Amino acid sequence: QPALLADSLGRTLHDLRISVTDRCNFRCSYCMPKDVFDKDYRFLPQSSLLSFEEILRIARIFVACGVRKIRLTGGEPLLRRNLEALVASLSALRTADGEAPELTLTTNGSLLARKARALREAGLKRVTVSLDALDDAIFRGMNDVDFPVADVLAGIDAAVAAGLGPVKVNMVVKRGTNDHEIVAMARHFREHHGGRVVLRFIEYMDVGATNGWRMDEVLPSAEVRARLHAAFPLVALEAAQPGETAQRWAYADGRGEVGFISSVTQAFCGDCNRARLSTEGQLYLCLFANRGHDLRSLLRGAHPSGRPWSDAEIAAAIGLIWQQRSDRYSQLRASLPADPGSGSSAQDGGRRRIEMSYIGG
Ligand code: GTP
Ligand code: 5AD
Ligand code: SF4
Ligand code: SF4
Repeated sequence: QPALLADSLGRTLHDLRISVTDRCNFRCSYCMPKDVFDKDYRFLPQSSLLSFEEILRIARIFVACGVRKIRLTGGEPLLRRNLEALVASLSALRTADGEAPELTLTTNGSLLARKARALREAGLKRVTVSLDALDDAIFRGMNDVDFPVADVLAGIDAAVAAGLGPVKVNMVVKRGTNDHEIVAMARHFREHHGGRVVLRFIEYMDVGATNGWRMDEVLPSAEVRARLHAAFPLVALEAAQPGETAQRWAYADGRGEVGFISSVTQAFCGDCNRARLSTEGQLYLCLFANRGHDLRSLLRGAHPSGRPWSDAEIAAAIGLIWQQRSDRYSQLRASLPADPGSGSSAQDGGRRRIEMSYIGG
């Protein structure tokens, strides 16, 4: 049984988020604005993507380092061809005490109606679906590719039917864009699927360097909760797991629960236990990091002694990287003087921060 890996702030490694593609079929303005991610945008070439074999190997090493939860992300992960095969091999991983790590996926839902059953059969446990509005015109505008809301709702239905539950739905709230959809979204998921779908309201974050983030477009979770509470009274719940992103609240009438992910107004860096692996094998220790650690060159290159790196040597390298970790971007940002009109310094340290679509949130 390996000792738990703790970083310099005492936070133990628990989650691994693996991005399997930097591409997406949506162009949400808060993530992949169309004017930047246009036909000339250079996505990663095939040769720099980790293969499924490489992802499986690195995931196995992370599990040996203490990872208990693996989440596949993108861009849009379901765009990666034959993802079911990767899911099947990841679902066979076991921790030292013989447990299967929790295997989940965050998707925009556009391909889920077609793929939910195969993903479940391959061993996926849960999915989280992003959905920002029920109103078709608002949703089409927010995904900015005119994608209809009905198809995402069908994807959510298919996920529930396939047993990929409890399904979570993520709604990024932008003041003035979709904040008037909050109560309608809550009502919908209270009334469907027996209240078992968990809706989470996410504060619009200043991630990346292209979304033109402004504080005045953030609707603080406290305000979202107040609006919701006026329609459907809420009671606070205990956190299910340490390090969780969402604060959980239950409907007082017993019709399910909701979550609030408040990275801007209530940073949750204190027990952040997530590592992120980019599509090309860079390890990032914070969503807001501006540099990663190149694990692909360990997978593909030679150890200083001339032979390939062994799993144990890569595990030791990851251990050292994690032990030195001190990232707590959201906390630090919150302690800066408020500057409501502008984005935060997306160029920290002279290097551009990574984009959400590159690292998967
Ligand atoms: P669950 O395990 O289902 O609770 O998922 P999750 O909340 O860990 O992941 P998900 O992909 O659903 O992300 C929800 C939102 O939280 C997205 O907007 C993510 O970008 C954001 N998020 C996830 N992890 C972090 C984090 O460590 N820091 C910050 N600031 N945001 C995060
Ligand atoms: N702020 C908050 N959440 C975001 N997401 C993407 N960009 C942002 C942002 N700027 C969300 C997506 C998805 C999750 C992985 O991250 O909607 O649900
Ligand atoms: Fe695609 Fe998700 Fe980014 Fe929207 S938020 S552009 S669906 S990766
Ligand atoms: Fe973790 Fe960085 Fe998010 Fe803080 S800002 S919770 S350290 S990923």
